[in-house]
Amino acid sequence: MTRGTQHFIGKAHGKIILIGEHAVVYGEPAIALPFKAAPVEVSIEKDTGPVSVSSDYYTGPLEDAPGKLENIKVLLFEIGKELGQTINNLFIKITSHIPPERGMGSSAAVSTALIRALFQYFNVQLNEEQLLAYIDISEKIVHGNPSGIDARVTSSDAPIFYKKNQFFEPFPINISGYLIVADTGKKGQTSHAVADVATLFNDDYEKTTKLIQNIGERAIRAKLAIIHNDLAALGTLLSQTHELLKELTVSDESLDHLVDTALKAGALGAKLTGGGRGGCMIALAQSERYAMVIKNKLIEQGAINTWVHALEGE
Ligand code: MEV
Repeated sequence: MTRGTQHFIGKAHGKIILIGEHAVVYGEPAIALPFKAAPVEVSIEKDTGPVSVSSDYYTGPLEDAPGKLENIKVLLFEIGKELGQTINNLFIKITSHIPPERGMGSSAAVSTALIRALFQYFNVQLNEEQLLAYIDISEKIVHGNPSGIDARVTSSDAPIFYKKNQFFEPFPINISGYLIVADTGKKGQTSHAVADVATLFNDDYEKTTKLIQNIGERAIRAKLAIIHNDLAALGTLLSQTHELLKELTVSDESLDHLVDTALKAGALGAKLTGGGRGGCMIALAQSERYAMVIKNKLIEQGAINTWVHALEGE
């Protein structure tokens, strides 16, 4: 196998949904932040033979890859079609620091980085609209019915305020607080949680609609709390949203335990983040010192990984 010397690199990062997950699928607004502590890089080299991939979960010819990489196969096919290229003779190396299946945007970020790397490889300018359209194709394969928020935030440098099919705007977060992100260590399948919420609509339309609207209302109030630098109000809204997400059945014991731990350790608010049913949670602290106390408690109580994220200047 002879590889080329030139590497074509595409980058992206994970995401943190501050507020509004699940409700955003039904058209309610949500706020999400780029999670730059969890970057992804995709490097493409010229190679001989069929396309091959190297990643944490699979290394080998793409055509033999497990179902998990189906979105990558489809992306290569679609991009090849648009660029009039047969995509072959490539070695794709995926290096991701995003914990997979934890609701932190791993699939969207890998797609973003891959699309960016491929367009560089073919020396074709990639515009924002094209990028988002391709990530959406990939996310539909991975998540079934995505709202599109992961696609927009994993490719954005700034936090976003997002409403499906309506608006998507950068939203500067100048609030002097800290978010602690903690990983329960349990994998959570966003597609299953999203499908189960859809079933809840069938079972009890009125109750589910009310829950979704209550989450959306809190996302709007969270935006105002951030604009007015009201950290305590933001914390309360996060905790209230966790209770609503519990009623939507997308939390679990591991998340509830870490949320309770963070609140007992002095967090101003805490909730699950992303798809839920395992995965990650976030807690809000007023200072770095408090953030460290909460982080240590979360580790003591079972979090397998934690990150402290300053909100000021986001
Ligand atoms: C997943 O990161 C967020 C969800 O709201 C699903 C989506 O918006 O596509 C659970």
